[in-house]
Amino acid sequence: MEQCEELLERKEVAAGEGTYTLVLTRRDLSSLYPGLHIFTIRLLLGDKTLALFRTNSYEYSPTDPLDAESVARKNVLSWEHLLSRDPEAFFATHLEQVGTPADTGRPDVLILQGSPRADGNCSLISGWAAGASEEAGYSAEVVYPHDLWITGCIGCYQCYNTGFCTFDDDMTAIISSLRHARLLIICTPVYTSTVPGELKLLIDRFQAYHAEMTLAGRFVSRNGLLFSLAGRTGRENFTCVTRVIHDFMENLHITPSGDILVDGIDRLRDVRNVPGLEERIRSAVTTVLTGREGPS
Ligand SMILES: Cc1cc2nc3c(=O)[nH]c(=O)nc-3n(C[C@H](O)[C@H](O)[C@H](O)COP(=O)(O)O)c2cc1C
Repeated sequence: MEQCEELLERKEVAAGEGTYTLVLTRRDLSSLYPGLHIFTIRLLLGDKTLALFRTNSYEYSPTDPLDAESVARKNVLSWEHLLSRDPEAFFATHLEQVGTPADTGRPDVLILQGSPRADGNCSLISGWAAGASEEAGYSAEVVYPHDLWITGCIGCYQCYNTGFCTFDDDMTAIISSLRHARLLIICTPVYTSTVPGELKLLIDRFQAYHAEMTLAGRFVSRNGLLFSLAGRTGRENFTCVTRVIHDFMENLHITPSGDILVDGIDRLRDVRNVPGLEERIRSAVTTVLTGREGPS
């Protein structure tokens, strides 16, 4: 049981040769989201957790007749009943439900390239950012959400029970990459005043990483950079993009560490026609990574 959990029930259950302990706790995460409570049932043999079940108050939609606490308390009764009657059947169906997150990515710098055009302007900027990272001695990975299989978040809140998403698609590897990265860079065009849909899908799915860090009780601090391009002229074109990206970063405890916003791109057609832009992008990356100003 974690320190932040409140004990609701504890009972000894004699089953077969052994005596097990069944514990129900509540963790109050209202400071994070109003009324978010996580209920955890653990079956213990000594210190070892043999089976674990979690449910949380956000899982239940307004029209759902169930609520998290009643479901948890009912499960305690049914676990107790089945365990004492038929331990073999219990252990055949109640496995430890919290797994270890997939761990494949290793980049120092994760770059999310939001444009569906793999050969567009944001792609050029991503290349400059990746180049600057590598020149500073850090590995970089550029992700093109448009080319990936990423299902939209369905708001099931299961991630606050397990620490990972119910969907195991290309997002699993992206979260793994961010877990290792020290810097996140978003390169995105403005689409209808906000970010393109595929990038927004990915941003929403990062909620599972927020859940993972919340359950672990440990938020890793990182830096984030935003590079964005608008076709039209005027800074107001970036109002929503900056809001969406800064909120997203702050939710994951990533410190927004600089924005480079370039408007009027439809007239110029090619970011390489913006005087000094490549140097500014490279310098911003180098400065955040090394603490020293890059060449400009
Ligand atoms: C569907 C769509 C919506 C767009 N909406 C906006 C917009 O609201 N404001 C704006 O300034 N530019 C808008 N643009 C223009 C892009 O931001 C601009 O062309 C950008 O440079 C494209 O980046 P890319 O070359 O990396 O694809 C839009 C472009 C598309 C295709």
